[in-house]
This record gives sequence, structure tokens and C-alpha cells, in this order.
Amino acid sequence: MSWKDIPKVELHLHHEGAAPPAFIRGLAQERDVNLTGVFDDNGNYLFGDFAQFLRVYEAATAVLKSPDDYRRLTLAVLEESAKHGVVYTESFISPDFCGGGDLGAWREYLHAIREAADEAERTMGITLRGIVTCIRHFGPDRAKPIALCAAETAGDWIVGFGMGGDETMGAQGDFAYSFDLAREAGLRLTTHAGEWGGAKSIWQAVRDLKVERVGHGIQAIDDLALVDYLAEHEIVLEVCPGSNVALGAVPSFKAHPIAKLRERGVRVTVSTDDPPFFRTTMTREFDELERTFGWGEAEFRELAQTSLDAAFCDADTRDRIA
Ligand code: ADE
Ligand code: ZN
Repeated sequence: MSWKDIPKVELHLHHEGAAPPAFIRGLAQERDVNLTGVFDDNGNYLFGDFAQFLRVYEAATAVLKSPDDYRRLTLAVLEESAKHGVVYTESFISPDFCGGGDLGAWREYLHAIREAADEAERTMGITLRGIVTCIRHFGPDRAKPIALCAAETAGDWIVGFGMGGDETMGAQGDFAYSFDLAREAGLRLTTHAGEWGGAKSIWQAVRDLKVERVGHGIQAIDDLALVDYLAEHEIVLEVCPGSNVALGAVPSFKAHPIAKLRERGVRVTVSTDDPPFFRTTMTREFDELERTFGWGEAEFRELAQTSLDAAFCDADTRDRIA
């Protein structure tokens, strides 16, 4: 078996960020929603920098208005991932977008997403688990009802709590109340850190939020004491190289620090983040790593094992997908 056939485990995928552009356009047409500025002439998502990316992301997401839209979205997303050999995915799902933080509405959205996930598991052999996500630039007060939604629905399927959004706003510690609430409900924790906020933001994530995984974390490379801390404490990075290049967080694949972080002992995994936005797939990420750093079977097997070990699912699920 070639390493290209190793079943892939993806730990960092935004549910709406994985929406195929044709799916969003189709829904917008059904509803007569104007999406001027969201797509370029070729029908791809249109953005120049991270701030624009967040705006376009939220404009596209606004087309999704009901639990049934999320059921359809989930099927479209999982079908795309399964095509690239992904057998297990954790996706970020936000009650901010699914019911506006209302617990009753959130339960309805969750029910629809789970129905689709069950169908995908039966028909495509891909398993989905959810990480409930608050949005950093919506502020710490908005995060509290989101954490409550997470705590109330924690279980075998909602396995984690996390934070995405604009990392340059405020500090990780501003959200400690919400992360504490989620931890006490038994959820595992991750936050976006060190994509834009520097090594400082990663220190805050591990010290103030006590996360066990970090979304991106690539700016750790600027602080070798932090790199050693991450390695020693086995904090896993959800690295998304194609995303980092597309958004300009690093200038090129060649300049990406993933190989250096791994060589210094940090446990790295690889994901796509928002694949159609960044014109990437898990296949493309692996191909670029092979081409750029000469990674082969040994590295990709190690990656698969690290991803499996770091997955937030229960042991039975892990044994089943291993
Ligand atoms: N939400 C979706 N993609 C994101 C990213 N790359 N960084 C922060 N928040 C996000
Ligand atoms: Zn992300």
C-alpha cells in the first residue's frame, strides 16, 4: 500500500468553510440572495487578506438559514472529504451560525447535522465528530451562551470546544470562563493561536485556556522555548499549510515551519481549514508536503498516528477508524 492510501484523519475543518462554492451559490439562487463580492469570475470565493476572508466567510454562511440547510451542507462537505481518503473528521460548528446561541435552536441544528453524519458514515465510510466553536471577534460575552450550548450537548458526538475568528482581537484569557465551562462538561479543548497572534498568543492558549491542541500554532517557531514546551507537554498542532500560504500567514510552502517544528519534536497534524476557500484538499496538502519537504511513507504514517492519538473521540471510535 502506498502512503497515499493511508486513511486520513482531519482534525481542523470549519463546517461552513468547507462549503463547496456551487452549494452556496445554489442555495443563494433558491432564496434569491445577492452574493455580490463573495465569488470571483471563476466562481471561487473571493478575498485578498484575512479580514476580507472573514467577511466573505460570514456572507456565504448567512445563506445557510435552517437545520435542513446544515443537513445538506454536511452531506456535501463529507462527500468531498471522503473523496480524498478522509475516514474521520472533526469539524468546527458554531451555535453563533446555527440558531444564534439559542439552546433549543442549536439542538435542532445539531440533530440535522448528526442525521447527515450518520448517513455519510453508512454510505461513504466517513465519521464526523463536532467541536463547538465560539468566534473570537464576537467577543467574550457572546462566547458564554455558546459554551453553554456546548456543555448541554457534550457527549459521544460533540467532543470538543474551540475558538476561531480574528485572533488579533483581545486575549485568549478573555475567554477563560467559557473554556472552563466546557472543560467541566467533559469537552476537550482547542483554540486558534499562533496563526496571526504570535508566540504570545500560543502561550496564552496553553496557560490561560489550558488547551491540549492548538489550531495552527505555526508562529511558535519564533520562540524556541515555546517549541520545546509544546514538544515536552505533547501539545498537538493542527497545522493547515495550504491555508497559511493562501492567507499570507507564510509566504510559501517552502517557508512553512511545519517540518522544522516536527524535527524539533512538536506533534504536528495536517488539515485543510476551509478547503474550497484555499483551493486545497487533503490530497493536495500531502502532495505539497512530499514535494516541498520530501516527506514519504514514514512521515505520513507518523502523521496518521499523531492525528489518531490526538482525536477527541472516544476509544471505541478511535479503534474503529484505526
Ligand atoms: N475561521 C475559519 N477559518 C479560520 C482561520 N483560518 N482562522 C481563524 N478563524 C477561522
Ligand atoms: Zn481554522
